[in-house]
Amino acid sequence: MKKTFYITTPIYYANDVPHIGHTGTTVFADVVARYKRLQGFDVFSLTGTDEHGEKVALSAEKAGKEPQTFVDELALKWQDYWKQLNISNDVFMRTTLPGHVKIAEELLEKLKAKGDVYEDTYKGVYCVGCEEFKSERDLVDGKCPEHRPDQVQYREEKNYFFRISKYIPEIKKRLEDGTLPLIPENKKTEMLAKLAEPVKDTSISRQNVKWGIPIPWDKEQTTYVWVEALMNYYSATRIDWNDGVNREEFWPADVHFLGKGNNWFHSVIWPSLLLALDLPLPKNIFVHGYYNVEGKKMGKSLGNVISPQDLMDKYGIDGTRYLLCASMPYVGDSDVSFKWFDEKYNSALANGYGNLVSRLSKLYRDVPEMVLEDSYFEFQSNDASERVFGGHDNGSNYNDAYNVYNLSEVTELFNRAVTNINSYLTTQEPWKKAGDEKIQILRFAIGQLLEVTHAISPVMPETAEKVFNLFKDKSASPLILFARI
Ligand code: MSP
Repeated sequence: MKKTFYITTPIYYANDVPHIGHTGTTVFADVVARYKRLQGFDVFSLTGTDEHGEKVALSAEKAGKEPQTFVDELALKWQDYWKQLNISNDVFMRTTLPGHVKIAEELLEKLKAKGDVYEDTYKGVYCVGCEEFKSERDLVDGKCPEHRPDQVQYREEKNYFFRISKYIPEIKKRLEDGTLPLIPENKKTEMLAKLAEPVKDTSISRQNVKWGIPIPWDKEQTTYVWVEALMNYYSATRIDWNDGVNREEFWPADVHFLGKGNNWFHSVIWPSLLLALDLPLPKNIFVHGYYNVEGKKMGKSLGNVISPQDLMDKYGIDGTRYLLCASMPYVGDSDVSFKWFDEKYNSALANGYGNLVSRLSKLYRDVPEMVLEDSYFEFQSNDASERVFGGHDNGSNYNDAYNVYNLSEVTELFNRAVTNINSYLTTQEPWKKAGDEKIQILRFAIGQLLEVTHAISPVMPETAEKVFNLFKDKSASPLILFARI
């Protein structure tokens, strides 16, 4: 039986189009999904849009549109971006899908039946930008560190509450002993620090928000958007996607990918809800940092938002995928700029890999009698990919990096391997040699190049296809993969 692997991105608010932050997470998860498929896993990869709630409703109102029309249009835009970027998601979740609504309702009823829901008055501060109730310690000078001051308001209203406090000791224990693995380590430390202080029960409904899933037993209230949004990961395995695939066996998720701002929801609230629902918890949670632009937080008001389109126009699809992976450190935030992207693109892709490919494909075409056996292109079996992915660098290797989702390390291993092959050619000087001697040097170098190409193929799938084709089919004309900027 094939092993399954279920990977998710956050479902993004359908109130705007994606920027590089959303694009980063989506590309990272796609790279891992592709890697797992190469390893022989039956993969279920999910992304989508979070379409209910106050923030989305307000944006729709501002645009002068009905919320459903507004989110329908945006959901198409998000899907279009992911298609352009070659994201291989199996489903595109939308929280307005009737299938999701139905399962969210069932889960809410189950929570209530468990005795974990009670009615009370919510008093406190709410940030519409985060769609989150804020405690004093979340705010800086009374302001949300992520959103404009007008997004933060004092509220007092009747809400239903989830008895999360009942589950916090168990969550804390699991985070500490690693049975709820949260990586990298510093992201776990942050959550444990927050958990060292008392956790108040969380509100799961809203009194004055119309655009949401009505609370099944009290239609005056709608479900708090974060609660039903988190439930999407589970509902996706129960919805009939009309593709003949039963996805029930994919639960629990093997990994949820997200950026640090969503950590608390995924690492504390979601697992607590699952405990209350007697459902298995995710096997891993992977949290990356944020992209900042030229040392500043990215934001509309600062006018420094980088869109995926800016990157695709300049660096192409695979260039964009590569640069996003290369620029996000495993731990901590990323500081990007077009200057940095240009330099990395030129050194790693145009002068490094691109140049190596064109050098070798030319040398290969200069020796008409040289033909590569099929075995040069056989990476698909598990054994072969172990050999290929595992075989490259002293100490650390591709498999280790991919398996902990350290994708900037993957790109580093790739860069070093490319440099090594280039220096091998420089010392061996095959262009000065002839006959068998020349062929042996080329065989070795091309073999290495194809292995490196296979190893980076989850990051740059189209490029890998082109390169394989260049060496499979000698009549294919050489191409410039990455034009210098
Ligand atoms: N709708 C919620 C998520 C619900 S998941 C059940 C939400 N949406 S969001 O549109 O704000 O997207 C948040 C996600 O976008 C983060 O988890 C992260 O993946 C990504 N990022 C948003 N800004 C980012 C950066 N500046 N840098 C990197 N990633 C960032 O929150």
